[in-house]
Amino acid sequence: MMKDLVLKSTHNALFMRALRGEEVDRPPVWMMRQAGRYLPDYLKLKAKYSFFERVENPALATEITVMPVDQVGVDAAIIFSDILVIPQALGFEVSMNPGEGPRLPQTIRSAEQIDAIQIPDVADRLHYVMDALALTKKTLDGRVPLIGFAGSPWTIFCYMVEGRGSKTFSKAKAFAFSQPEATARLLDKIADTTITYLKAQAAAGADVLQLFDSWGGLLSPADYRIFSFPYMQKIAQAIPDTPVILYAKGCAYALPELARAGATALGIDWHTTPEQARALAGPDMVLQGNFDPSRLLSPIPEIKRMAKEMVDAFGTQRYIANLGHGILPEVPVDHAKAFVDTIKAYGS
Ligand code: CP3
Repeated sequence: MMKDLVLKSTHNALFMRALRGEEVDRPPVWMMRQAGRYLPDYLKLKAKYSFFERVENPALATEITVMPVDQVGVDAAIIFSDILVIPQALGFEVSMNPGEGPRLPQTIRSAEQIDAIQIPDVADRLHYVMDALALTKKTLDGRVPLIGFAGSPWTIFCYMVEGRGSKTFSKAKAFAFSQPEATARLLDKIADTTITYLKAQAAAGADVLQLFDSWGGLLSPADYRIFSFPYMQKIAQAIPDTPVILYAKGCAYALPELARAGATALGIDWHTTPEQARALAGPDMVLQGNFDPSRLLSPIPEIKRMAKEMVDAFGTQRYIANLGHGILPEVPVDHAKAFVDTIKAYGS
């Protein structure tokens, strides 16, 4: 019994220790978008329930969140939800249509619409996320830490203006560049809502919080400083008591600033080498990444070699092994497992 408890707390400690920059025997490993997508048991639930049924039902969300812990052996769980629950909480309908991705039928077209948005009681509006976190936490029973998350204000803004996914988000950029003051007011409303939301997630059981700036890389470095960075910083600084990971895809140029934004760790995509990322973020920053997600489609021996090389390059300390972006739905489970197992065997 005692031994069980010790083992539990030791295992649990790895990801948190690496985040705090403490010495570890090997890096912890998890994969962005690990809950769902490529797991056969998830696809069974997907055939039975709509996307938001899965998200809004705490028992289903818990089951999906815990799947990769049981089946792939990752060192952290990330709650099954979506970044687009924030537009929903702000009063914007979001539908997820199979094969089409997200759709927002009503989009932001004017400054008046922005000024009419009321900041919601987000813990109440999104209570099912907090319920799912609490149930997941209980179900995990200390096996691994639990990650909560939200989208960055800029990335959420992109969807609220564009109304759907896009390669260029040109409607969103046109709005931002022609109405920068109104854009700043909306980004502030999203940031304030997100701060309350992330704090509620931590109170409900999230040990770590990650902010996804998936579309930051669509901005030039100068525009990133106007439309994304200040809001990421505002959020990171408003949450001093829970570790925050900032993941800004395509924003290597911003790593020196992101390293000073008040975050605990920075996510790195695969367009940056580990050496470049270390040089840009500075020696004290904890980094997370950056395996090319499509490299999980390589033959398994190749995956193992490349995963090992990745740790060689980042080093075992102040490092969390992960992909450079979300796992692709077509990745075979044994390939994902080979990646995770290689990190777990590193150095032994
Ligand atoms: O590990 C996890 O998957 C946890 C849950 C999670 C989802 N979305 C579930 C989901 C997380 C962390 C997200 C984040 C998210 N959602 C981001 C940021 C991360 C990234 O990938 O850049 C973004 C941009 C979204 C918005 C979104 N949600 C899109 C563009 C899509 C459609 C395409 C896709 O990514 O699959 C979604 C739908 C979505 N969110 C699915 C899942 C599992 C797929 C739909 C389904 O399985 O029914």
